[in-house]
Amino acid sequence: MKKTLIAATAISLSAMALTACGSDSDSSAGADGDSGNGSITMGFAQVGAESGWRSANTKSIEDSAKEAGIDLKFSDAQQKQENQIKAIRSYIQQKVDVIAFSPVVETGWDTVLQEAKRANIPVILTDRAVDSEDTSLYKTFLGSDFVEEGQKAGQWLVDNAADSDVDGDGDIDVVQLEGTTGAAPAIDRGEGFADAISADPKISVIASQTGDFTRDGGKQVMESFLQSEKGIDVVFAHNDDMGLGAIEAIKAAGLTPGKDIKIITVDAVKDGMTALAAGEINYIVECNPLLGPQLMDLAEKVVAGEDVPERVVTEETTFDQEQAAEALPTREY
Ligand code: AHR
Repeated sequence: MKKTLIAATAISLSAMALTACGSDSDSSAGADGDSGNGSITMGFAQVGAESGWRSANTKSIEDSAKEAGIDLKFSDAQQKQENQIKAIRSYIQQKVDVIAFSPVVETGWDTVLQEAKRANIPVILTDRAVDSEDTSLYKTFLGSDFVEEGQKAGQWLVDNAADSDVDGDGDIDVVQLEGTTGAAPAIDRGEGFADAISADPKISVIASQTGDFTRDGGKQVMESFLQSEKGIDVVFAHNDDMGLGAIEAIKAAGLTPGKDIKIITVDAVKDGMTALAAGEINYIVECNPLLGPQLMDLAEKVVAGEDVPERVVTEETTFDQEQAAEALPTREY
């Protein structure tokens, strides 16, 4: 259902009018430090602070709310769905004008979203989608095409298969560090990657486990893969942070990341790009966290009763070592 909707109604970031790029907080100060004009109050239920991407996303939302004079009520769910549901219920009680959230997992949202609908509070999905039959429960979904991100990662491997058979045994053995179980980017990136690598029978995923999108998680899972799997050629990590954790584990095992084991990640945050420029990561698929300006623009339209596209897809690119070195000096996040 979700993917049909995406395909049918996607519009690009460039088509939008853009201006710029475990606690609750209220950041209603305007850009100049004054109070927001109070015309719109947004309740935003964030996933957590699990990654560099997430920190950049939170900053973008907070900065853009100030810029737009939107009174922002912000909560950090610490990667727990029940905390996000509580936050959304509290925003309903507070009668905010609009609720935005980035769902930690895809399923289990219908009840709370029906409560928001009954209270006539519009909902905007940001970054991650929900898997619901009832698309009337939200006004729009702003975020990346995660399937495409996974496909880009897999396509790079197909195109670089000859160099990626590091142990020279004729097969390219991949271990996958998955994002949070049940989260849209974990499901979709895994799906897109599997789809792309199916073009080359020499490439296969020999082990796959969640590292929960965190550096520690990536490190721990990679340590256990290095013990249990023989002849790992490639790591596909669903985000930079897990890839950076894997680098630590690979170094601790006396191997050279980027050479003895190739690494592909998603996000392109500064730490990931630095590792790519240094040759410790081999390829990064970008996932843009700077969603704040578009979110505020959509919120203003939704609250004013204007029509908005059902799906807004962010434009993203990819980076190899040379491109990362070039981009780093001006990288915003
Ligand atoms: O939903 C976006 C993903 O969530 C990012 O790729 C990852 O770093 C974050 O935790």
